[in-house]
Amino acid sequence: MLKTPDMLLLFFCLVGAADALHKQWIPDTNYENKTNWDKKDVPCGNDIVWFPAQRKVSVFVETMHAVQEMRLPVGGEFILNSGAGFHVVTGKDPGCGAGVTTKFKDSESLQWFNPALWQAAATLEDLQLGNFLFSVHEESVPCQHDDVVFKARSSFRVDTSSSQSSVPVKSVSVLGKKFESSSEFSWYLISRSGLLQFHGSSAVTLRNQECGDLSGCDCGNSGNRQRICNTVTCASLSCKNPLLPVGHCCEVCGAIVTIRYATGFNLQTYRQRIRHIFLILPQYKSIQLGMSKVFKSQRLMGIGPFGTSPEIQVVILDGEEGTQSEDLARDIVKDAQSHGSNLGITDAEFQASSGSSSDQTGGNTGMVVGVVFGVLIVITLIIIVVFLIRKGVVQMPSSLPSLPSLSSFKRSRDVEDLGGPLDHGFDNPIFNNPSILSNVPGLYATETNNSISMTQTGVHFSNPVYDENETDLSA
Ligand SMILES: *[C@@H]1O[C@H](CO)[C@@H](O)[C@H](O)[C@H]1NC(C)=O
Repeated sequence: MLKTPDMLLLFFCLVGAADALHKQWIPDTNYENKTNWDKKDVPCGNDIVWFPAQRKVSVFVETMHAVQEMRLPVGGEFILNSGAGFHVVTGKDPGCGAGVTTKFKDSESLQWFNPALWQAAATLEDLQLGNFLFSVHEESVPCQHDDVVFKARSSFRVDTSSSQSSVPVKSVSVLGKKFESSSEFSWYLISRSGLLQFHGSSAVTLRNQECGDLSGCDCGNSGNRQRICNTVTCASLSCKNPLLPVGHCCEVCGAIVTIRYATGFNLQTYRQRIRHIFLILPQYKSIQLGMSKVFKSQRLMGIGPFGTSPEIQVVILDGEEGTQSEDLARDIVKDAQSHGSNLGITDAEFQASSGSSSDQTGGNTGMVVGVVFGVLIVITLIIIVVFLIRKGVVQMPSSLPSLPSLSSFKRSRDVEDLGGPLDHGFDNPIFNNPSILSNVPGLYATETNNSISMTQTGVHFSNPVYDENETDLSA
């Protein structure tokens, strides 16, 4: 049981801290890391250690090492832990093999905007315990309000080139020192170590700005989406209806819960709630869940973007067909519906890659409405065009064969009646420009001469896209 002071402390932790994560850079340039050597092993007393001459690198050395010979780069540094160093072995090192030349690997191309090179956690402690959080690709890279961590007792080299002039974050920790002041960190960046660790066309800058909104903040990486997604290879999927989460580079099999909220919603508290109620259950052990505020563009009747609105996106993956994800999505929506008023949630719904969703009938109605509207718009357009042609407002280009079926419009009484009041229409530049028209495949070609006809019962047209003779649509 928690004693009252602990409870209070916990309460203040949850309420005081707005949503921000710790993001830790994974690769290092440590002497002791086997993956940094081309022979995939740390060199020993019979080996020749080779740092190529032009390599710009800051190497962290933890302990004492024996070497046969060492070739050093022109610019570079060793950061020696206390007690660390090198000594040359005279004669043979019995614990070492025959002796090889081993080269320190190149870390020149490792990019800040590569989501695979970061791990995220809610706190520093969680980072150390390995309680990592899953995020969509854009948010796997540090967001503007995140604390960036380069491991203590470790060095690195990162290319911070960005599509913007700077790479804003809240704070940066290097070699166990946390920088929170932007001027102090700019001084570090032009120090010897700073210049070897950070390179590229943009500089990391500290805003030291909390996300002031308890419901979460925009990550701010969408301007670098192209750069981020260029580093990602998408896996091939086996589910029926793959989903594309906002901020992710790849379609996924799983489920997405969309939550709309009101004042009082706290993203960090809600993330903890989901973790403690659901993610600890054995059946959800292999689940990856990422939760963040995203800005989704709103559409009216399925057409055109009409501004953006913030909502909470919960992406749930299970690495398989997505059945567990769907179960969890149902549980989360149920939980939101029964406790929504306490949590500040106004609405929650989900979509799963199996094709099911929390609002199936709604979805179908929407589609029917969309189709009916689409057909009405097409018919209206055809009537307007025919009317304009008949009125002579729009001229048929003389180089094109006239449409025989047009004569039937003249006989139609319905259309005749429309004639009077609407005399002046608009000039459509496309219809006055034969060269544009002749570039439209099939539209005015001879085989489609009969594509529009009018009978007593209505207007009939065949869609050239569905014409069986028309195979090459891209022409
Ligand atoms: C060694 O480097 C690899 C790749 O950069 C990294 O994944 C691994 O965690 C490092 N090993 C240690 C012990 O830090």
